[in-house]
Amino acid sequence: MATTLEKIKEGLDRSQPWMPNLFRVERIRKETYDTFTFDLETSDGAGCAFQPGQFNMLYIYGVGEVPISISGDPKNSRTLVHTIRAVGTVTKNMRQLKRGDLVGVRGPFGRPWPVEDAKGHDVIIVAGGIGLAPLRPVIYHLLAHREQYGKIILHYGARTPDDILFRQELETWRARFDFDVQVTVDRSTGSWQGNVGVVTLLIPKATFDPLQTIAMVCGPEIMMRFTVLELLKRDLTEENIFLSGERNMKCGIGHCGHCQFGHLFVCNDGPVFRYSDTADLFKKREI
Ligand SMILES: Cc1cc2nc3c(=O)[nH]c(=O)nc-3n(C[C@H](O)[C@H](O)[C@H](O)COP(=O)(O)OP(=O)(O)OC[C@H]3O[C@@H](n4cnc5c(N)ncnc54)[C@H](O)[C@@H]3O)c2cc1C
Ligand code: FES
Repeated sequence: MATTLEKIKEGLDRSQPWMPNLFRVERIRKETYDTFTFDLETSDGAGCAFQPGQFNMLYIYGVGEVPISISGDPKNSRTLVHTIRAVGTVTKNMRQLKRGDLVGVRGPFGRPWPVEDAKGHDVIIVAGGIGLAPLRPVIYHLLAHREQYGKIILHYGARTPDDILFRQELETWRARFDFDVQVTVDRSTGSWQGNVGVVTLLIPKATFDPLQTIAMVCGPEIMMRFTVLELLKRDLTEENIFLSGERNMKCGIGHCGHCQFGHLFVCNDGPVFRYSDTADLFKKREI
């Protein structure tokens, strides 16, 4: 029988899904004025395997627990990387954490992005704002297995140049000949020389084979709605569009109903959904 440590290494300790595992903050990086990334590790180095698109429930003692996607490289299961925008009680407290502080981690949970199904296909990734964080593990995976995929395109939109996440990495990716990276901002400030306008404006200019393309989309709900419309205009099928949904969560394991999205639970049935399975729900506001 697998020991608890082995189960944690496998990344899914389903026997004790309510029990947080303790991780230590090893590194903290400021990404923007309101967003930071921290690397979490266990004291024994066991870490936690995960698939691109999965999330953890992160707990700060005495404050609360929130779902946060994993933004690191799936090849590195020793370190859990999370990129967090400080918006409210728990995430603002997380921003105060220092190296060596402990965080409770339950997970990883949820259905991943379809990196296996995308093999042999072109892939277009469309990210808005913090939505680039849950998609970064996909990018690491696709680039690590570059020969298994056709064209790879990233369209990333941020509100202003100051809101752009992972700037250095974006520049490195953009310098590659086998990765088409386009970044745009809603509002230009400072010395920005790049694209201006919402991210959906980039889609009509992209070159890909619509019948062979898988789209992965994550961002604010309104951005995802318009992105889907543009992708459908480019003749992508509803079956080949995948979106990541966000809802308030408590348990993360399909028990409490907090994350209900129509007849689905975002924690168990998502967070990554095939658009054709959820089109009716995505078309309605505030479900
Ligand atoms: C599957 C999943 C993955 C997620 N991954 C990430 C991630 O990788 N990084 C990340 O930063 N967040 C992520 N989130 C969102 C994150 O869980 C929330 O931002 C967090 O729960 C807010 O908790 P809080 O206590 O800090 O804020 P609260 O005190 O609960 O909220 C404070 C205020 O912020 C607003 N607010 C809450 N959530 C958001 C939001 N997402 N965007 C804008 N305003 C918000 C509330 O409406 C409220 O007005 C994810 C959510 C889900 C469901
Ligand atoms: S968070 Fe409890 S059912 Fe999804």
